[in-house]
Amino acid sequence: MMTMHKRTLVLAIATTSLVAGLAMTAYAANGESESEALPYQNLTELGYPAPQEGELVHVPPTMEDLEAADIHPELKKVIRYGYELFTDTQQLRDKYVYNDMNCSSCHLGEGRQPFSAPVWTAAVTLPDFRGKNQHVNSLEERIAGCFAYSMNGVPPEYGSDEMLALSAYHQWLATGAPMYPDKPIYGRGFPAPDEPEQAPDYARGEAAYQENCAICHQEDGSGHYENDEYVFPAPWGDGSNNWGAGIARLDTAAGFIQNNMPLGQPHSLSDQQAWDIAYYVSSQERPQDPRYTGDVAETAERFHGRSLYGKAREHDDHVLGDHDNFGDKGDARPWNVGMPRFENLSED
Ligand code: HEC
Ligand code: HEC
Repeated sequence: MMTMHKRTLVLAIATTSLVAGLAMTAYAANGESESEALPYQNLTELGYPAPQEGELVHVPPTMEDLEAADIHPELKKVIRYGYELFTDTQQLRDKYVYNDMNCSSCHLGEGRQPFSAPVWTAAVTLPDFRGKNQHVNSLEERIAGCFAYSMNGVPPEYGSDEMLALSAYHQWLATGAPMYPDKPIYGRGFPAPDEPEQAPDYARGEAAYQENCAICHQEDGSGHYENDEYVFPAPWGDGSNNWGAGIARLDTAAGFIQNNMPLGQPHSLSDQQAWDIAYYVSSQERPQDPRYTGDVAETAERFHGRSLYGKAREHDDHVLGDHDNFGDKGDARPWNVGMPRFENLSED
């Protein structure tokens, strides 16, 4: 436990290079001792920004650390199960998951990787108010959100074995990090590239997608499957996330892409290319938003300030999201969407 605790570096040191050096040492140390360590040992060399003064840098423990940890064996089993659900969420297919994704399809490095929305952050910042559903959310509720939208699914019940295991995995990844940190978290989310010089463009995005992405994700975005399992997931279509997912927002998609794609070559795309490709990918169809009111314009107005949902594509006039296709989920509805909370407190 002590070694894990040391990995949390709350950095308040004057010079950025020293800060970066320290953080990189932490990653490198992690990389040397564990096989499943972060794939990146030197993030700045790969084009990621160095930690800024005063940012919280936390290096989550690995599965090897779990085996070595001095915690109850029953807890280890549950965390291990949470890890397995996170990296092979397809075992919940047709029960809680109705697309072809795993949690780790978007949260790379098993949910640990900076700039790939590392998930331990949720364990130390929740409960908190969430704009997306306008109430205070727990960690389980945040996980349920990614089930309903990113996995085009129906979340496991709060308190179920699956939820407990997943939240235990998230919480354990946060081992040693301070609860409710009063500093910004290094590498949180999928930070968007700077605004592009030219407005994002469909045709440029298509060309750049075909050049940089199609080799793995296919020209038509359908992904690549072997023995019914994806090797490369589908960035659009029924196998992908639905319209309500965070990655359907243009800025989040651009941030995901520049920080994580092409796989193994993060930050190889220019800001302009990342926005263009995000615009192209975000202009393709995917399963309907579970918050769909039956009216695409109304749904767009209420929920889609940052995505292209409800907009007409220039080249063929197709209105994005104007359909009743909920993907493999069909009539199943995520029970957590639009669920009112704390109504008895609303007078204050
Ligand atoms: C299609 C991509 C995608 C998939 C698949 C996905 N997520 Fe997410 N997840 C996101 C995006 C986008 C965000 C928001 C990141 C941001 O705030 O910029 C997010 C955020 C989160 C957060 C909050 C992180 C924070 O910084 O507060 C947690 C926790 C989380 N996801 C868990 C999961 C779990 C568990 C699964 C599987 C059941 C999953 N996600 C599947 C895209 C995905
Ligand atoms: C070398 C193969 C490869 C290339 C090239 C590649 N990707 Fe990926 N991509 C992956 C893999 C693999 C994952 C899932 C990560 C995992 O499962 O570990 C992924 C995940 C994704 C996701 C999130 C999951 C989904 O399907 O929506 C998006 C979006 C994505 N890639 C877009 C792109 C874009 C855009 C490009 C081009 C700039 C690109 N990828 C290039 C292999 C690749």
